[in-house]
Amino acid sequence: MTELSVVVLAAGGGTRMKSKTAKVLHRVGGRSMVGHVLAAVRTLEPARVVTVVGHQREQVAPHVQELMPEAVLAVQEEQLGTAHAVRMAADALGLGQQPGGTVLVAYGDTPLLRGESLQAFLADHRASGRAVSILSGVVGDPFGYGRIVRGAEGVVEAIVEEKDATAEQRAIREINSGILAFEAAFLADALGRIGNDNAKGEYYLTDTVALARAAGLPVGAHVIDDVTEIEGANDRAQLAALGALLNARVVGRWMREGVTVVDPATTWIDVDVELAPDVTVLPGTQLLGATVVGEDAVIGPDTTLRDCEVGAGAHVVRTHAELAVVGESADVGPFSYLRPGTRLGAGGKIGGFVETKNAVIGDGAKVPHLSYVGDAEIGEGANIGAGTIFANYDGVAKHRTTVGRHAKTGSNNTFVAPVTIGDGASTGGGTVVRGEVPPGALAVSSGPLRVIEDWAPRKRAGTAQAAAAQAAGGGPAGEREASHNDSSRVGDSAPGGGES
Ligand code: UD1
Ligand code: CA
Repeated sequence: MTELSVVVLAAGGGTRMKSKTAKVLHRVGGRSMVGHVLAAVRTLEPARVVTVVGHQREQVAPHVQELMPEAVLAVQEEQLGTAHAVRMAADALGLGQQPGGTVLVAYGDTPLLRGESLQAFLADHRASGRAVSILSGVVGDPFGYGRIVRGAEGVVEAIVEEKDATAEQRAIREINSGILAFEAAFLADALGRIGNDNAKGEYYLTDTVALARAAGLPVGAHVIDDVTEIEGANDRAQLAALGALLNARVVGRWMREGVTVVDPATTWIDVDVELAPDVTVLPGTQLLGATVVGEDAVIGPDTTLRDCEVGAGAHVVRTHAELAVVGESADVGPFSYLRPGTRLGAGGKIGGFVETKNAVIGDGAKVPHLSYVGDAEIGEGANIGAGTIFANYDGVAKHRTTVGRHAKTGSNNTFVAPVTIGDGASTGGGTVVRGEVPPGALAVSSGPLRVIEDWAPRKRAGTAQAAAAQAAGGGPAGEREASHNDSSRVGDSAPGGGES
């Protein structure tokens, strides 16, 4: 098999995106558009990949280098056409002297392109012995594309660009995807002979087809089944449309792998997410980044997980989580916010209106209600009372709180970090803990309850509050009659008033 080189063209501007972000860096399915193309290219195991950058290359070049460090970058200062772009890559491709092997050209803005399709195209090109092969597609509306002009018996004669086409040629619905495969020796020769005498005044790579035909070299087109794979996104509407198609593909794949997705239309799954069989995804759920979900887990409804790991059998309901780990059979939600560094143990619970950050919560430990847990370690089996705040920030620095195994802390506590609560310790309701509670101790910081009898009748006389108190037996006996004319007292409310 001959050596393969791949050129990815990503030098063009993205005017219609109207964005400060380079077009090929716009994302769908959790990856940039060029990231999708590079992933498809990687499946070909090419000997070398050259990416041509130009417009906004200060953004594009580092991104490509991060995704594919082995790729070579070639710079096209001015965008003078697709042939000119490939010429900028000629040295890196080794087209200088005695070139051999195959060169495949792809674009950086076709996010739906699949590796399998590129492989099939390349195999066809190699088996055919052609000088040039075109990956073509038959579309409903060919406007803007180069048309594949076929002669007698369907032999490919040329690619004619929209602006250079005759009315008759414009009616052709077989179009050039832009993905072309070349014998390197032919490409090296052809690049030097392509001119820019055409409607756009550009150097067209598509002119290689007519050049090969003129030289009597074989040319052909390989028609792709799914034309969405070769569609580029030029504006944000097209980007969203391609994103939806990509999502449908990913969601469909997981359903075939044994994942229940109740509502595919409102479920978004990034391409790098991993789901085990019998996971259930409920409506309105987004599984993003490198999220991994274990068997039998139930996610959603209305949940967003980015770069999270969810154990088998866990339930995550109406939750927003990022860089968090949820243990096996653990429970999260509804209305929970898990920030980076949250690690919930097996069988643990993070309940309603609880926010966590940098918090390791042990196996079977529970933070069930209305709490903030930041910079903390909670031992296995511990229970944190409702409405507890781990006050981790003193205005200057962050401090940690440790709660021991099987500790039980009361409701409405504040832990003013640094705090250590020992194994098996307890705290009373409303306690503010500063410092240390030894293992097994009970800490109580709120004072004894003070009750001032008959305060309302004396200090709020004549109000509904005072009337209610007196009707219930509060206040001196003589004053109770005085409230008879007060229409708002409890005794006047209509029967059935307690139903609401
Ligand atoms: C090109 C093809 C056309 C095909 C269509 C598919 C040519 C002459 N025409 O047309 O047959 O149907 O793509 O989408 O090849 N680029 C550079 N440097 C340049 C010019 C372009 O890197 O100087 C890159 C662009 O970033 C883009 C790709 O090449 O990724 C295509 O360029 P574009 O200008 O969009 O070509 P089209 O006119 O659409
Ligand atoms: Ca284009």
